Amino acid sequence: MKSKIEKYLEEVRSFEADNLEQLEAFRIRFLSKKGLVPALFADFKQVAAEDRKEMGQLINELKKAIQEKIVTLKQQLESKPDNEASGMDLSLPATVQLGTRHPLSIVRNEIIDIFSRIGFNVSEGPEIEDDFHNFTALNFPPNHPARDMQDTFFIEKDPDIALRTHTSSVQVRVMENSKPPIRTISPGRVFRNEAISARAHCIFHQVEGLYIDTGVSFADLKHTLFYFAREMFGENTKTRFRPSYFPFTEPSAEMDISCNICGGKGCNICKYTGWVEILGCGMVDPNVLNACRIDSIKYTGYAFGMGIERIAMLKYQINDLRLFFENDLRFLRQFESAE
Ligand code: PHE
Repeated sequence: MKSKIEKYLEEVRSFEADNLEQLEAFRIRFLSKKGLVPALFADFKQVAAEDRKEMGQLINELKKAIQEKIVTLKQQLESKPDNEASGMDLSLPATVQLGTRHPLSIVRNEIIDIFSRIGFNVSEGPEIEDDFHNFTALNFPPNHPARDMQDTFFIEKDPDIALRTHTSSVQVRVMENSKPPIRTISPGRVFRNEAISARAHCIFHQVEGLYIDTGVSFADLKHTLFYFAREMFGENTKTRFRPSYFPFTEPSAEMDISCNICGGKGCNICKYTGWVEILGCGMVDPNVLNACRIDSIKYTGYAFGMGIERIAMLKYQINDLRLFFENDLRFLRQFESAE
């Protein structure tokens, strides 16, 4: 027995552990219930009386040596950086790829930001709309060709239920549910039955703007949109308004900004005109106010609607609309640094 204990003592003294797992295995080998030390204590019962004192001391010495060894090695291992103890280098830079915001979300948030600064709130409406909110209340007479301007995806006929073709339907809902003064923007998805190309998609995003109060004029509309264009595209941006037609606004206009790519000199983005169209707008037609039970004698207002894709394409110089919907990480990761 003596030689056995001395052999163990030798082993304990020379033991080194590279990590906590090895140290634990060492502890189990000697000190666990079925370990070598309890086995020695069991054998001790058979030791002759005259040897007991010496053997008892030796076993205790062994036990103490083991316990001290464990404490010392544990301290050593724990004071080493974790990485070495676990075999991993945790000081390496993290390789987790953080997600990025989609460019359309970035632009939408920026548009919301710009208009919130001048007191517009944000409103939303359903993507599945009835004929009244998408067309009739917006002064599209039944069977009027203007309904064909927007190739509609119908879901049900009679009564007509469709995917909204524009966010102007949210204007109607806001006017129905609140009283002037109204100052709101409505971002959302819209749907049109169009062939997918670099310039068109059957799903895209718009932001609608609506301002209703007493004495609102076209000058207010122009000034608000001029402010928007400068905030979005830079302070040297110029705007111009061209007459246009929408059933729900009168007069109606389309707004161009000076091409932010060539600075107005002419390039293939602006088709060498120096200007690019970014939105439709106008004074809310009194018929629309009446349909929404707003007094069109007392109140006037303006509305505008812009495509988020178009703004994003100009802002980031993206020349194919389909890139927004393909979710190619090589494209999306380019927006990592933006908020
Ligand atoms: N709804 C129109 C469109 O989708 C845009 C618009 C909105 C025009 C508000 C005027 C006023 O083309």
